[in-house]
Amino acid sequence: MSSSSAAAAAAAVRVAMVAVFLMATMAAGGSFLEDFDVTWGDSRAKILENGQLLTLALDRTSGSGFQSKHEYLFGKIDMQIKLVPGNSAGTVTAYYLSSMGATHDEIDFEFLGNLSGEPYTLHTNVYTQGKGDREMQFRLWFDPTKDFHTYSIIWNPKHVMYFTVDGTPIRDFKNLESRGVAFPRSQPMRVYSSLWNADDWATRGGLVKTDWSKAPFVAAYRGFRAEACGGGRPCEASKSKGGWWNQELDLTSQGRMQWVQRNFMIYHYCHDAKRFPQGLLPECSIP
Ligand SMILES: *[C@@H]1O[C@H](CO)[C@@H](O)[C@H](O)[C@H]1NC(C)=O
Repeated sequence: MSSSSAAAAAAAVRVAMVAVFLMATMAAGGSFLEDFDVTWGDSRAKILENGQLLTLALDRTSGSGFQSKHEYLFGKIDMQIKLVPGNSAGTVTAYYLSSMGATHDEIDFEFLGNLSGEPYTLHTNVYTQGKGDREMQFRLWFDPTKDFHTYSIIWNPKHVMYFTVDGTPIRDFKNLESRGVAFPRSQPMRVYSSLWNADDWATRGGLVKTDWSKAPFVAAYRGFRAEACGGGRPCEASKSKGGWWNQELDLTSQGRMQWVQRNFMIYHYCHDAKRFPQGLLPECSIP
């Protein structure tokens, strides 16, 4: 080997070592071991593959859950979830952001399981200052149990936007504080998820019971990513043009959201006058 090719080989080894190091530190940034604590269900919640995968299980005795170590105040928060397959009727996989206390804010995704081959319901809600009642429910246009899909929340001072399936917006809760509607903008939130049994309400008021012979029920998570303010990360960069801090739905996204709401929405709190005999919430009459 000539000395110049030996030097080239040594340089290649150095480059490879730096690449391995960078990959390791990048992976650590999105690790469940670093970002989350298991808070419920003991060994039913498992962090696997060196922190890259988390699974929650539900059996007859208990469900399980986890929460983020950090709190976030605004951000773009992504999670890939693969829901309980097969007969999941009675199970609920909740994935949400929430602050603490009686006047807490909360941004919810809840996936209500169903019998084999029947569709899940995606239930969403937004709480501000402890008040919710803003449910919107959807069917999904894909099988959420076959693969991982990304569910995202973009929360900035003007909007809380829900995205699902890899970037399709389904819901946009606008900041209408100037019209007297409270908006979540001062209470930092943690990310929570849990898998639990709710066959008393989730299945058309308890009509279908959880089939415990199919337990344990398992949901899987990976690809957590928080571009957020809080959590020890600087958020100034997000405020640049094109970042999530200034993000709104452009015309294409609005069209996508209309498509979802026209074809897959099964409940909207603004369309349920019977439930609100005192009148619909104020945002319902703001175009
Ligand atoms: C389960 O599927 C049935 C039939 O399509 C549907 O009417 C029902 O709302 C579904 N239940 C849930 C919890 O999504």
